[in-house]
Amino acid sequence: MKFTSTIVSLSLFCAGSLVEAAHISNIHRLKQAQVHGRRSGPSATYTSITASATASGTPTSSSSSSAASATSTGTSSGCSFSSGIKRGLSFNDASLTEQFTSSQISWAYNWGQTYSGNLPDNVTFIPMLWSDSDTYTSTWQTNAQAAIDNGTEYLMSYNEPDLNTQANMTPKQAASSWMTYMEPFAGKAKLVGPAITNGGSPMGEAWLDAFIGNCTQCTIDVYAMHIYDSATNEAYYQQYISDFASKYNKTVWVTEFGATGSDSQVQTFLGDMVGFLDGLDGVGAYAWFMDEVGNLVNNDGSLTSLAETYVA
Ligand SMILES: *[C@@H]1O[C@H](CO)[C@@H](O)[C@H](O)[C@H]1NC(C)=O
Ligand SMILES: *[C@@H]1O[C@H](CO)[C@@H](O)[C@H](O)[C@H]1NC(C)=O
Ligand SMILES: *[C@@H]1O[C@H](CO)[C@@H](O)[C@H](O)[C@H]1NC(C)=O
Ligand SMILES: *[C@@H]1O[C@H](CO)[C@@H](O)[C@H](O)[C@H]1NC(C)=O
Repeated sequence: MKFTSTIVSLSLFCAGSLVEAAHISNIHRLKQAQVHGRRSGPSATYTSITASATASGTPTSSSSSSAASATSTGTSSGCSFSSGIKRGLSFNDASLTEQFTSSQISWAYNWGQTYSGNLPDNVTFIPMLWSDSDTYTSTWQTNAQAAIDNGTEYLMSYNEPDLNTQANMTPKQAASSWMTYMEPFAGKAKLVGPAITNGGSPMGEAWLDAFIGNCTQCTIDVYAMHIYDSATNEAYYQQYISDFASKYNKTVWVTEFGATGSDSQVQTFLGDMVGFLDGLDGVGAYAWFMDEVGNLVNNDGSLTSLAETYVA
């Protein structure tokens, strides 16, 4: 099984595309994290990358007792898609989605605003405004409207604005940009908030709280989050996600999750997490990081055993 291999061929990416830079940056981030390892436990952050996070505290939550947390029912509920399937794919190369079907996944995204190639029939592409840089904002209105015209019901916003190697925006800056670029689409599509990391304050929930505090006129339909830790630390993921859902009382999308560990640890983890996420009412959608060779697909595009677990 090769799925935990992190060898990613940059030849997968078309040179010169600015949107691709975001993808590469994401991969770079994961590779860095895997090389350096992450601290385990509730204080897990992207500490290996962000010095300021190293000294920071645990991810905050208003509900510190598990009794107050949203609990997973074990059956699929709260799904954001009419298919009833919360599962999605994050991809760079659309050809690597073709072995999946709409009975397995409802949605897909590539951190960009458009994609080339084809997604499986009835799988919705959801565009993202990656950051407030001109590179992304200059094309956003056109691309977001095109996606809506083509049936997309959701628009995603900023990728890890709380991380200095990703969108790197202050909460105030993100709120201001939201009003200019996202808010005009309120009511035309459901708007997915900035996707924060599970880093400790001032990252993660602290960043999101400040964003919400600055964004009092914003229509945020869904809150998005990413979470990475050790595959042996399922309890942390489940507590963090259910506390998050309780605290914000709004549909949550887990738009990236991943785990370090051996192949068998990661596979066990993913199987358990799919059941957990399907069963947690507050979660409307989720996407494993990510649909790439050596992870969900083999070199020939066929599904790995990890992918079989993901879609089982
Ligand atoms: C896609 O959706 C249409 C309309 O619901 C349906 O007729 C068609 O069978 C679906 N295709 C697949 C591959 O599921
Ligand atoms: C629009 O949706 C159809 C059907 O889902 C898909 O085949 C097509 O590629 C989409 N076009 C764009 C621009 O997203
Ligand atoms: C607005 O965001 C800034 C950081 O960008 C933060 O210092 C401030 O506390 C936030 N305001 C509110 C009301 O949350
Ligand atoms: C959570 O949201 C629902 C619907 O949006 C609302 O009816 C309920 O009062 C909220 N609960 C809390 C504790 O704010």
